[in-house]
Amino acid sequence: MADAYPQVKTTQDFAQQSPEYRNSIEKLVVSHAINELQGARVFDEPAVALAPHPYAKWLTCRVAMEEYGHHCKFFDLGRQIGIDEDRMLPEKTAKKPLSMFDFPLTTWEEFVAIKAFGDLAEILQVEDLLHCSFLPLRNLARSTMPEEKFHHDFGMQFGRELLKDPESKARFQAAVNRVFPVVPAFFGASRSKNNAIFREFGIKLRTNEDMRADYVARASAAAADLGLTLPELPAEMLH
Ligand SMILES: [Fe+2]
Ligand SMILES: [Fe+2]
Repeated sequence: MADAYPQVKTTQDFAQQSPEYRNSIEKLVVSHAINELQGARVFDEPAVALAPHPYAKWLTCRVAMEEYGHHCKFFDLGRQIGIDEDRMLPEKTAKKPLSMFDFPLTTWEEFVAIKAFGDLAEILQVEDLLHCSFLPLRNLARSTMPEEKFHHDFGMQFGRELLKDPESKARFQAAVNRVFPVVPAFFGASRSKNNAIFREFGIKLRTNEDMRADYVARASAAAADLGLTLPELPAEMLH
């Protein structure tokens, strides 16, 4: 369990940890810094132009602001623990952003589907960090969680707006069909060595495959709540 590994309370304590522990935390911080920024750039900021009315534009601006803010928080924590700034910027680092950010966003319906179903995956990831042995990272997760929940709720709320009209409902269902299959890869490889080390150090609680299965169950419930269906995923994606 998470608390089997002693808590690392401050960034000063962090500097005293083993290279393996520090390396694991660095990998996570780098990954969040890169992916929050990439998501804000390719989805949230462009979505302001796609939003259909002023109220939707206002809330989309808020979502974009919060996603850039998540990057800034991880970037700042990374700097505090000595990570080189270039490692945390997609255009400067060798690490590639997650494949889900390759999705070519072109419509408002796709953005709403990304928030309803993509940010649900982000909620699961952040939930896992709420018990992290490195307390500054645990606290960061606590501060971003309400915002990630808002992003998912944003998707559900504007999703319901799209359901009112048969044509926009059909476009939304088609967008969900395109978006949902790119999300499960977000949880990383099954039987991942990195994930095993994260669990050993009390940095993460669950395996990638457990989280993916939980995600699919929660996404199915969200789709049912909207009266939509999810496309079948290829079996190899779930193992
Ligand atoms: Fe975020
Ligand atoms: Fe988000």
